[in-house]
Amino acid sequence: MGSKSTNPLELGRSLPVPNVQELAQSDDQIPERYYRPEADVDPVASIDEDELPVIDLMKLLNPELIDKDELFRLGSACREWGFFQLINHGIPEEVIEKTKDDIKKFFKLPLKEKEAIKQIPGHIQGYGQVFVHSEEQKLDWADVLILNIQPSQNRDMRFWPTNPTTFRDTLDTYTLKIGKVVDCLYGLMAEDLGVDLQDMLNIFRDQIQSVRINYYPPCKQANKVLGLSPHSDGIALTVLLQANDVHALQIKKNDKWLLVKPKPSALIINIGDMMEIMTNGKYKSIEHRAIINIEERLSIATFHLPSIDVLLRPFPGLVNSNGELYKTISAKEYTREYFAGKLNGKNALESMKLRK
Ligand code: OGA
Ligand code: NI
Repeated sequence: MGSKSTNPLELGRSLPVPNVQELAQSDDQIPERYYRPEADVDPVASIDEDELPVIDLMKLLNPELIDKDELFRLGSACREWGFFQLINHGIPEEVIEKTKDDIKKFFKLPLKEKEAIKQIPGHIQGYGQVFVHSEEQKLDWADVLILNIQPSQNRDMRFWPTNPTTFRDTLDTYTLKIGKVVDCLYGLMAEDLGVDLQDMLNIFRDQIQSVRINYYPPCKQANKVLGLSPHSDGIALTVLLQANDVHALQIKKNDKWLLVKPKPSALIINIGDMMEIMTNGKYKSIEHRAIINIEERLSIATFHLPSIDVLLRPFPGLVNSNGELYKTISAKEYTREYFAGKLNGKNALESMKLRK
C-alpha cells in the first residue's frame, strides 16, 4: 500500500451503492435515485454542428512529417475546446485491442467474481462507485473500477482483477504507453504556451497516474438516466478510450451538449482543472457527461496529475496584466476538495477563482 502522502485516491470517500449492471437486468422500474429528467431536457447540439478537433501526433513528432500548423491546431484545441482526438499516437493497435478486450471480459464476469475486488468502505480504489455522499443524492447509471497506476508503490494489487488472466499485464502496458504519449503532449503544450520546457517537465516529473474504467449498462429508458454526471476532471490531463463503438460522451459547447464521435482508434484527450489553473486559464477544463444508450458502453479514462505536494500555480510567463486568476493550492488540497463534492459541473474549479 502506498503511503497516504503520495496517494490522491486515499483523499476521497464514497458511500456504497447498488450494482447497476445487476439492476439493469431486472424488469422493474428505474429506481427513483437514478431518474434524471435533465438527461432528456438539456439542449443538445445538432449532430453535425461541430466536430471535435483531430490532432495528428505524427505530424508533431516525426521530423520528416513535421507540420507547423499542427502545433497551432493543438494549441487552439486546448484553448477553445479543452478536448481533442489524437490520431497516429503510436500506441500499437494490438495494445489498444487487448485493453478493450480485457476490460469487456472483466465486466462480463458474474457479479460474485467482480465483487472479489469491490471497494472497501472508506476507499476509492476497486470496483464500485465514487462521489456518493448522501442517501438522497441522484446516482449515475454505471459501475466503475478505479485503480492507482503510478507511482507504482501506490498500486494496491488487492483491487487488480486476475480474471482475465492477462488483465494486469494488459493494463500495465496500456498505461505505460499512455503515460509516454502524455509526456509528449506536455512538451508540445509547453512549446505552444511559450513555457520553458524544463518548468513543465519539473512539474510532471513524479507524475501520478490512475484509471477509472467505466461500465455503462444498457437501459430500457435510456433517456431517463445519466451514465456520468456533468463534471470537469479534477486532474491535469485525461486520456479516454472507448472500448466499444457506442457514442455517449457529451461535452458542453456554447451551452449545448455536443456528442463526441471519435474516429476509430483515436484517443480522446482533455484538459483538466489543474492544467487550467497552471495555464492561468489559457487552456480550458470543459464540463462533460456521459449519456446512456439501449446498448452497453465501456470506456477507460487515464488521469494524470503532478505529485500531490506540487503547488498549483501559473507557469512563469503566463500571468499578464490581469494577474493570477486562481488561488494557489497544492495538488493534494485540490484533490481533497474535488472528492469532497458530489460530481457537480465545474464547482471545484469555480471555487478556486479569485474573481468571480
Ligand atoms: C471520466 C469521463 C467519459 C466517458 O471518466 O471522467 O468523463 O465517456 N468519462 O466514459
Ligand atoms: Ni471526465
